[in-house]
Amino acid sequence: MDLFDKLEGRPGPLGSFTSDGYGYYTFPKLEGPLGPEMKFNGKDVIVWSINDYLSVGNHLEVRKADTEAAEKYGFSAPMGARLMTGNSDEHEALERELADFMHKPEALLLNFGYQGIMSVIHALVDRNDFLIYDELSHACIVDGKQLAMADKTVFKHNDMESLEKQLKRAEKRRKPNSSVLVITEGVFGMTGDLGKLKEIIALKEKYDFRLLVDDAHGFGTLGDDGSGAGTQLGCHDGIDIYFGTFAKAVALIGAFVATEPRVIEFLKANVRSQIFAKSLPLPLVVSARKRLQLIRQHPEWREKLWKNTMMLRDGLNDIGYNVLPSESPVTPVLTEGSTELCQTIMRVMREDHGIFVSGVAYPVVPKGMVLIRLIPTAGHTSEHIKKTLEAFEAIKPIVFKEAKEKRTA
Ligand SMILES: Cc1ncc(COP(=O)(O)O)c(C=O)c1O
Repeated sequence: MDLFDKLEGRPGPLGSFTSDGYGYYTFPKLEGPLGPEMKFNGKDVIVWSINDYLSVGNHLEVRKADTEAAEKYGFSAPMGARLMTGNSDEHEALERELADFMHKPEALLLNFGYQGIMSVIHALVDRNDFLIYDELSHACIVDGKQLAMADKTVFKHNDMESLEKQLKRAEKRRKPNSSVLVITEGVFGMTGDLGKLKEIIALKEKYDFRLLVDDAHGFGTLGDDGSGAGTQLGCHDGIDIYFGTFAKAVALIGAFVATEPRVIEFLKANVRSQIFAKSLPLPLVVSARKRLQLIRQHPEWREKLWKNTMMLRDGLNDIGYNVLPSESPVTPVLTEGSTELCQTIMRVMREDHGIFVSGVAYPVVPKGMVLIRLIPTAGHTSEHIKKTLEAFEAIKPIVFKEAKEKRTA
């Protein structure tokens, strides 16, 4: 059979959603300056779907630094991979600043979070090793695991008994040259709960392993200085390799790992997606430095983010919605219902109330459930929150209709 013909009949788990409602439910285009107020299909909307947690992306000083850097360097330099011709003082300065921000000895810049962490996982473990990861890990960890040659097992989400079972299994089977890598997330992005980092680190007393934490949503938002989930939970030192991306709180492209110098030295020469790929263009690197500096200078942005988060969450709870017990700004509203209900909520909120929310249904959440995920940012105002709560109040008859019918059937 022709490969292309075969692909037509194989849309993949998300394929049916992308063809149905393209440009609306999937691949929507939010236009205008980045922020809590944007345009969707020519209409003004209050946006609850972008991860610019600290509203740094469109900050005036950032825009100015971006423009100046683009003018000074253009978007091509440096050319080549960092190992060959793509290194610069700016790249190295950013790495020093990231290490300092994260209270780790050294950091390694990655061009993209997804490919970066995949390659880091691939590089770290070999066929003698054991890789144990949380079952709800992000796709990039799952894909990184596929690349890795190690023995791979999952533990039930945040379940320490299940993790211990896997650690015991590895202990029994390991050879003298076997090592164990445990991977979890700082913040689970769909539900907003934190990885049980303290409990995992406590297991190091009994078992020999290293811990890699993907803290995509925690970097910049959690901890009193923004250094993430480990700091928030009081166990940052126990994280052996910290991974953060610029894709959320820094509102940019790029990512990093922070860890011991000997590990960074190894990764520099072994992370294939960086060794065999062009390095980040200078304007992005300069901009990341500026954004990091601003995040450091403005702890009040984090305070505002949390104030907004609590106001939104309390308001949704007060009017009868089931907000999952998130420990991060991620605000997931769970309700019973079909894919059609998920689409109706998005449509009615956007069209009738000027509120842009995104939702997911099966297969991202269990069949019969709908999850509307709101991302508050520091830039939202109480007026945005008030209008959003009014809209959620107004759509209650629609949201709860299917659940009610099911109960009375
Ligand atoms: C938990 C997690 N890890 C990794 C990534 C990938 O990062 P990036 O967007 O920088 O490729 C994401 C999404 O951005 C994420 O949510």
